[in-house]
Amino acid sequence: MWLAALVYFFCHLGISAGGGGDTSEEITTSTIDFALNATSTTESVAQPYFDNATKRDYTAAVGQPAYLHCRVKNLGDRAVSWIRKRDLHILTVGVHTYSSDARFAALHTDNSDEWTLRVAPAQPRDSGSYECQVSTEPKISLSFRLTVVVSKAEILSGPELFVRAGSDINLTCIARHAPDPPSFIYWYRGSNVVNYAQRGGISVETEQRTRTSRLLIARASPRDSGNYTCAPSSSDSASVVVHVVSGERPAAMQSDSQRLSPIPLLILLSIRSQLKSFLTSIMLYILLMSQHTSTNYLKYIRFLWNNYCIRRFVTR
Ligand SMILES: *[C@@H]1O[C@H](CO)[C@@H](O)[C@H](O)[C@H]1NC(C)=O
Ligand SMILES: *[C@@H]1O[C@H](CO)[C@@H](O)[C@H](O)[C@H]1NC(C)=O
Ligand SMILES: *[C@@H]1O[C@H](CO)[C@@H](O)[C@H](O)[C@H]1NC(C)=O
Ligand SMILES: *[C@@H]1O[C@H](CO)[C@@H](O)[C@H](O)[C@H]1NC(C)=O
Repeated sequence: MWLAALVYFFCHLGISAGGGGDTSEEITTSTIDFALNATSTTESVAQPYFDNATKRDYTAAVGQPAYLHCRVKNLGDRAVSWIRKRDLHILTVGVHTYSSDARFAALHTDNSDEWTLRVAPAQPRDSGSYECQVSTEPKISLSFRLTVVVSKAEILSGPELFVRAGSDINLTCIARHAPDPPSFIYWYRGSNVVNYAQRGGISVETEQRTRTSRLLIARASPRDSGNYTCAPSSSDSASVVVHVVSGERPAAMQSDSQRLSPIPLLILLSIRSQLKSFLTSIMLYILLMSQHTSTNYLKYIRFLWNNYCIRRFVTR
């Protein structure tokens, strides 16, 4: 390499100094020839080595493809293999898959120094160490670590949300443990993508850095009730059942709270521990629930009843 650089240097010096004479032309070509020979000689003698800037710790989401990139310089005619350390299983040699597990494949483009192991789809059991090996004498190898994580989205307001009609539905979804920021996050209501055109006042803000998406539906009406699902590109989805409560009448519903999750609702109700309000509440709830064929309401009534009993008999 040294020699080559030096020769090139002198060669360029020769061109700029020598003008266009016949002799200098001859010298130049022969030095270039020599330079090329020198380069190729250096290359065939040099041993392969790993690019030390190589990233060796990878995280992938379960169900998604995982890639381990191994970069080898001066490979020459040697082969690059991928070995699973756990059982010393040879996964790939060159671009051929040796494993019977078809999820493993070697990716390589001609004239590149990159030999990539692809595991698709990645499973949690694929977590562990892998080795990129070059068939020199003696062998050289570089160790890689793969961690396959289960990424699950989470909607902050929990599995169920009660919202008073006229106020906003504000849903925040986070793609937790996602190895990479999701390239997109979709929102569904039932099985349909939330449709901005169908109804005004819908906005979605997705922030890749924090892996967060916020769905805001202004002035909710009972028709906005439903099962809302947040589906990030690289995580399992999460759902929340939203009940929009058209509670104009009963005092219990006239809270300033934007959303009424079941527990605050109970507390509100139990403040008035009189039988009358209790019965009103039950009727209200049955009314509400008749819109959604939910089996939850029996549980809810039992809950209310227990609450009433506690208020009535225990706290005195
Ligand atoms: C470079 O190598 C070629 C054959 O590989 C040979 O013909 C040529 O003379 C060599 N040039 C020099 C400068 O050594
Ligand atoms: C590259 O890594 C190998 C071991 O993996 C080490 O022996 C070598 O010194 C490193 N080279 C540089 C330039 O850091
Ligand atoms: C929606 O809720 C989040 C927190 O849960 C809050 O930071 C945000 O300001 C709310 N947005 C609106 C428009 O109410
Ligand atoms: C809500 O929708 C999701 C996705 O379609 C489904 O997996 C989930 O069971 C539904 N939840 C309810 C309570 O219906």
